[in-house]
Parts: sequence; structure tokens; C-alpha cells
Amino acid sequence: MANNVKGTRDILPITSNGFSKIESLLSSIATLFNYHEIRTPVLEYSEVFSRGVGEGSDIVRKEMYTFLDKGDRSVTMRPEFTAGIVRSFIQNKMYATEELPVKLFYSGPAFRYERPQLGRYRQFTQFGVESLGCNSLYNDAEVISMAYSMLLALGLDNVKLKINCLGDEQSRTNYKEALKEYFKPHLEEMCPDCKQRYELNPLRILDCKVPYDHELALGAPKIAEYLSTESKERFDKIKEFLDKSKINYEIDDQLVRGLDYYSEIVFEFAYVSKKGKDYGALGGGGHYGHLIKELGGPDLPGVGFSFGIDRLLDVLLDDEILKEEVPAVDLYVMPIGNNVRNEALNLTNMLRLSGYKTDLCFDDIKLGSMFKRATKKGAKFAVILGEDEVKNNKVIIKDLSKEEQKEIEVKDLLSYLDELYRSHHCHCHSHEGECCSEEGCECDSDSDCKCHH
Ligand code: HAM
Repeated sequence: MANNVKGTRDILPITSNGFSKIESLLSSIATLFNYHEIRTPVLEYSEVFSRGVGEGSDIVRKEMYTFLDKGDRSVTMRPEFTAGIVRSFIQNKMYATEELPVKLFYSGPAFRYERPQLGRYRQFTQFGVESLGCNSLYNDAEVISMAYSMLLALGLDNVKLKINCLGDEQSRTNYKEALKEYFKPHLEEMCPDCKQRYELNPLRILDCKVPYDHELALGAPKIAEYLSTESKERFDKIKEFLDKSKINYEIDDQLVRGLDYYSEIVFEFAYVSKKGKDYGALGGGGHYGHLIKELGGPDLPGVGFSFGIDRLLDVLLDDEILKEEVPAVDLYVMPIGNNVRNEALNLTNMLRLSGYKTDLCFDDIKLGSMFKRATKKGAKFAVILGEDEVKNNKVIIKDLSKEEQKEIEVKDLLSYLDELYRSHHCHCHSHEGECCSEEGCECDSDSDCKCHH
């Protein structure tokens, strides 16, 4: 038997509905912020990431799915989106043809060869945004507040926003020197990875999970002491915005993020589910001052973040904000006997194309068994069709919640169903399929209701 590749997972229909709900909510919020969707290829030339994400990052050193294609070109399955999007921004000269900032959002699979564990997969889905070409600190602030609003909209009101400032180039150069000085006497005892990090990018050591190095990192000099006046002021103004917007945050001076392109503000959203499970950061991002230039474009900055949709899904299920369920159908068509199959299939398709989610029984089974199937599929009504009904151009509609049934002419079927749905099964925002004539119903059926009318 063939198995899935280690670290990947199948999203079965029982969960894919939740997955799509998350993606569609996040996309609709990004759209409200006037971000536009971009779709870039999964495959990029490897240098996009080695130059973009950085040779010193764990992602580039250890985690990329990189191979030579049949033309001997080194290509990589994207481990993240930002570098590929910046490549596209430059290649398509968006900086010259569009108003800046160019505001983009995206969703799709990314690949990292990491050790699989809770919330960590080798193929995972990211949703993110990038705002390219604007240096206003309020652009950074807008991006953070958008990410925060998205988590709130998903029902996650207990996220911990961690922020840090990595400063401008000069601040980071000074800080890296200070870190080297600090770690130098301990280099022999540090893990092999950190020995390399020491040479390539000592900031990375602050992220090390090996106990000895982690302890050591806690006592390392803090970036705040090395920030230039401009970086400090920029950071203060963003904090002021967060305070005024009542966005809770904490400053985490160990937060350096795993990608080398960041400068100035970086942030991450931590969340522990109500059952106490820690799936890792739900998302993270920051400002990148030089990535566009590094990849051959003009000297323009960018800012963005990405969420891990797999982790969002896992916490939403864990907190029972989302349920694992296959969405219900509206109608279940039950043909009685094999002589009415053509008519039943045509009737089913007509109902589908009129907007009713409809399923059809293909098996020649007893009526009772068909009712059981209808109930299992969550159908509200059964549409029963026997030889007599076909002869008389009629169908029987049975309300499965009330055990009531009625024979009606096929020509009247749609208006009959529309009437039933209007009064009983409104799909409005506030009720998601509940009866909108219920007491206490707040839906304004003219403006709110998305039912079949
Ligand atoms: P990142 O922190 O590497 O940032 O990834 C963002 C999010 O993707 C993480 O917080 C996590 O939720 C999810 N994620 C990462 N790796 C995995 C994995 N192996 N399994 C499941 N989920 C994972 C970036 O990728 C940056 N490009 C974010 C960014 C956008 N910065 C600026 N713009």
C-alpha cells in the first residue's frame, strides 16, 4: 500500500470545509484592506531563497526541497512566499507601473524539510500579505493590525502578540558584533549549528532551542541597547499605535525570526489552545528593508506576515470554534425503482443548477434505508420520485424534521421549495441555515438574507 510522504497530511472532506472557511475569511478581510491576490509558482530558482531568505537561515541551510531539474538548473519548492513574491514584484516591474505600496495577499502550499511534530508539517499552507514599496511606519502598523483583526475574526481572542525591533542596518551590524563578543568565550561548548550561526549570522543563536545555548542566549546583550535613534523612534511610534488601538502585545527581545531579510519591527502570534496544546506560532512577519534590492530590484522596503493555516485549523478545532463535519445537503432525491433513474438524475441536476445543494440515491434500496441516508447527509427535505409521480409529472416532498409530506407538480417544485426556504431555512449571516422566523431572530431578511431569493 502506498503511503503519504512523511510530514505531509491529507485534508479529508471532514476538515477541508474548515480549511476553506479560514482561507475565505482571511481573503475577504485582506480584500477589505484593499489587498489583491497574487499567485506565484511553487517552484522558484533556488537563488531566490538563498539570496532572499538568507544563506545563514536554517530554512536555506537545512530545510529546502531543492533539486536539479532535467536542464540542470537548481530549483526549490518554496519554503515561504515572501521571496518569490518580491521576485515577481521586480520581474513584473510592479514598482514602476502601480501605485505604491503594492498590496498583495496569497494562500497556498509551502514546503520545509523539518522534523514533523505537533503543528509542524513538511507541506503546509500559508496565508499571508505583503505590502511593497512604502516606508511609512503606519504601513507596518496597518499590517500588524490587519493580522490581529484576522485572528479576532476567526474567534481567537486570546492570542499573544510578541514584537521586537531589529533596527536598521547599522544597528544590526553593531549588535552582531556585540553578540560575537559575548558568545566567543563559549563557542567550544555550543552546538554545531550555533558554531555556524556564529559565523553566518549570530542573531540566529538567540533562536536556538538547545538548552545550553538557550540559557546562554538569555544573558546575551539586548538589541534595544544597539538601536539607532531613528529605529528607536520608529518602534516607539508603532507601539504607541498598538497602545491606542488596544492591541495587546509584549516585547520579546529574544524574537529574531528565522529569516534573514528582516529589519526594524518583527512580530509573531503565539497561542496555546484552551486544552493547553501549543502548536507553535500561528503566524509571524515583519518589515524587510533590503530584500527587494537584494533580489535585484529598486531600493524599496516591504512588510508582511504569514499565517500557518494548518495551525489555525488545528487550534480552531481544538478550541471547538470549528467543527469537523461534512457540510449538509439541502435536498436528497430518492428514486423508487430502476425505471425512474433518468428522470431522477435530470430532476436532481435541475435542482442543483437552481441553487439547491442536492444529492441523489443511486442504489435500488428500500425507502427506509434511503431516509436514513438522507438524514445522515443532513438533508432538510427528501424529494421522492416513483413511476406514478413520473407519469403524472409530480414529486413528493417530505420535510424530514416534521415528518410531513406533500405531493406537488414538477412545474411548481421550484417555487414551492423557494417558499419553504424563505420561511424556514434562511442562510443568512446570523443563522447559517437556522429558521429566520424564530423568536429573537435579528436578521433583516431583505438585506442580510442570502437564501435562495
Ligand atoms: P515563518 O514564521 O517562517 O514566516 O512562517 C509563518 C507561519 O507559517 C508560522 O508562524 C507557522 O504558522 C507557519 N509554518 C511555518 N513552518 C511550518 C511548518 N513546518 N508546518 C506548519 N506550519 C508552518 C514566513 O514564512 C515569512 N515569509 C512571513 C513573512 C511574510 N514575513 C514577511 N512577510
